[in-house]
Amino acid sequence: MSAHRPQPRVYVALDSARPQRVRELLGELDPSLCGIKIGKEAFTALGPSVVEWARERGFPVFLDLKFHDIPNTVRQACRAARDLEVSLVNVHASGGRRMLEAAREAIEPGPEAPGLIAVTVLTSMEDADLAEVGVSGGAAAQVERLAGLVVEAGLDGVVCSAHEAGAMSRRFGAGSLVVTPGVRPAGSARDDQRRVMTPSEALAAGATSLVIGRPITGAQSPGRVLEDIVASL
Ligand code: C5P
Repeated sequence: MSAHRPQPRVYVALDSARPQRVRELLGELDPSLCGIKIGKEAFTALGPSVVEWARERGFPVFLDLKFHDIPNTVRQACRAARDLEVSLVNVHASGGRRMLEAAREAIEPGPEAPGLIAVTVLTSMEDADLAEVGVSGGAAAQVERLAGLVVEAGLDGVVCSAHEAGAMSRRFGAGSLVVTPGVRPAGSARDDQRRVMTPSEALAAGATSLVIGRPITGAQSPGRVLEDIVASL
C-alpha cells in the first residue's frame, strides 16, 4: 500500500495574489505534466478557493503553508489540509517532536493521504542568522539534527535545496519525498536564487519532485516552458 498520494515530478509555484493571474496560469499549464504549489501569498489573499480552482482543473496541489504552532493547532490545520484533498503538505521541523507527531497523527499514511514533509532550516538563514536566534553550531548541523527528528516522527520526507537532496534521500530511505526548490533550466535567469541546479541535475542528485516558479510563471508561454522542462527530464 502506498503511504501517500502519487507526486508529480514538477510543482509549479503559483506565487501570485491576483485571482485573474492565477486562473490564467492554471489555464495555460497541463495538469498531466505538473502539480501546483500554493503558498502563503496566494492562500492568504484568495483562501481555500484557490486550492479548489487547481483541483478542479485536475492539478495535484502542494499546500506550502509550513505549519509551525502548538501540536494541537498543527494537528487541526493538517486535518483541514487533508480535507482540502491536497497532495502534499508541509510543516516546520523546528516545531519539535510533539508537533511533528501531531501532524503525523492528523495525516495517517495511506494511498489517499497527502504526502507530509518538513522544512528543516530555511535556506534564507545563514549561520549568523541562526546564532542570533540561539542556534549555535551552524546550519548544516541544524539540518542534520532536525532531519533526524523528522525521520523519527515518521514523516514522508523533506523540502531542501538540491544540494542537500542526496544526503536527505539516503537519510530518509527509498520511497521518501525529497522536494527541492532553487531549480533553474539551463540558460534561464537565477532571480534571487543563489545555488541553483537544472531540473535533471536536481533529480539525479536525489530530488523526487522539483518546485519551479518564475522560469515558468514569468515566461511568455508558461505551458511551453513546462513542456520543455518535462521533456528534459
Ligand atoms: O520562482 P522560484 O522558482 O524561485 O520559486 C521557488 C518557490 O519555492 C517559491 O515559492 C519559494 O518561496 C519556494 N522556496 C524556495 N526556497 C526554499 C523554500 C521554498 O525558493 N528554500
